[in-house]
Amino acid sequence: MRAVDLIEKKKRGKHLTEDELVFLLQGYLDGSIPDYQMSAFCMAVCFTGMDEKELYHFTTIMRDSGDRIKITQGDTNSKDYRFIIDKHSTGGVGDKTSIALVPLLSALGLGVVKLTGKGLGHTGGTVDKFESLPGFVFPHKKDKLNAMFSTTGVAMTSYSDTIVPLDKKLYGLRDVTATVQSLPLIASSIMSKKLAVESDAILLDIKVGNGAFLTTLKEAQELTRIMLALGSQAKRRVLAVLTDMNQPLGTHVGNSLEFAEAVSFLKGEASSDFDELVRTLASYALQLSDSSLSSHDATHAVERALSSGRALNALKILVSAMGADPIFIDTPNLLAKAKYTHDVIHDTGGYVRAINSHAIGTAAMTLGAGRAHKNATIDYSAGIVLHKKVGQYCKANTPYATIHTNDKHAISHAQVLIQDSYDFVNQKVSPPPVILETLSNELANELANELAK
Ligand code: URA
Repeated sequence: MRAVDLIEKKKRGKHLTEDELVFLLQGYLDGSIPDYQMSAFCMAVCFTGMDEKELYHFTTIMRDSGDRIKITQGDTNSKDYRFIIDKHSTGGVGDKTSIALVPLLSALGLGVVKLTGKGLGHTGGTVDKFESLPGFVFPHKKDKLNAMFSTTGVAMTSYSDTIVPLDKKLYGLRDVTATVQSLPLIASSIMSKKLAVESDAILLDIKVGNGAFLTTLKEAQELTRIMLALGSQAKRRVLAVLTDMNQPLGTHVGNSLEFAEAVSFLKGEASSDFDELVRTLASYALQLSDSSLSSHDATHAVERALSSGRALNALKILVSAMGADPIFIDTPNLLAKAKYTHDVIHDTGGYVRAINSHAIGTAAMTLGAGRAHKNATIDYSAGIVLHKKVGQYCKANTPYATIHTNDKHAISHAQVLIQDSYDFVNQKVSPPPVILETLSNELANELANELAK
């Protein structure tokens, strides 16, 4: 077999067999197939795509290129979790959902297993948000991950070189060869990492809008359809929620600021879009674990876990088990604070019509909250608090955002980015919905069957 023939075949829109894909992908991982041939192959996929069978083989070869994560239950000191859920977000600005959702799911009696990433560019990462707590360290070794699960019901670790190494190598190549934007390549990249983790169900939060890597609903629906099909082929239940990223989620952007906002939610105070998203995802997770549960009962169970303080307590247990002091949950004010704060004021007043999340994410990055490149260091205390979201009215001469930073010189540039990202009008504007659509692979199969009739 020769790589050049396989590239030619893909260029002509033909389908590769499993053996051909094994040859190509394993050859790329072991170095016998060079970057230039793999990038030509990825470019061909961008133009001609892959069919379902091909994509499934491509994804499982990626999944099997490294370690799998499987939690061993049965430690005599721990309770058994009858249902284990893996939640994944495709990433956005102000997305602190996991900090609130993971302890909430645990308080609802669900086990959670999850791989988390670091922030890059304008989007933040869950690893950084948790690690903004002094002392918090994610476990990497198998025994430590099992120990975390037996004390907290949660096993969370960051991506490492040994989990789906093929995706790591391939993503690095796609990033510099303009081949990221291919739905089959994105779907296989995400799903290979999801399928490498053993869980009973996967809950996907697919972000759509100007702060996400998928900007249109149509593209997001198509990606979701592909990921659901991959889930079905791998016999894994998948539920995908398409959610709005045409404005940042919640009000805080930046690592410790977002951590504090998630804690506020668990204490009963939060912005409405973030609140709605976390509650909805938690209700769906419960219904995935028990199909006889009505959405009304699931919603009530979520409310009880929050109002009783059980979810907040679950976060304290998680934080303590990972080496941080739970005092940061009782008093988030103790988290690192930026030296400088600066209000961004609106002179004349108006309703917020739109907020460009990409620009807000970029502003937060320039203040120190994000990484411009993967080895950059970040400032946990830096970020932006948004006092006004789409649909809200900002009075004349009052702030609609506050900048937090330790870098005095970054303030003026960030201020311009924030000003440019906000669009004010005189007429009333309705706030956009945060949940755009919900799809499951069962639902997708039903739809496909109906269409085939
Ligand atoms: N996120 C991933 O993990 N992979 C992609 O290809 C794009 C986004």
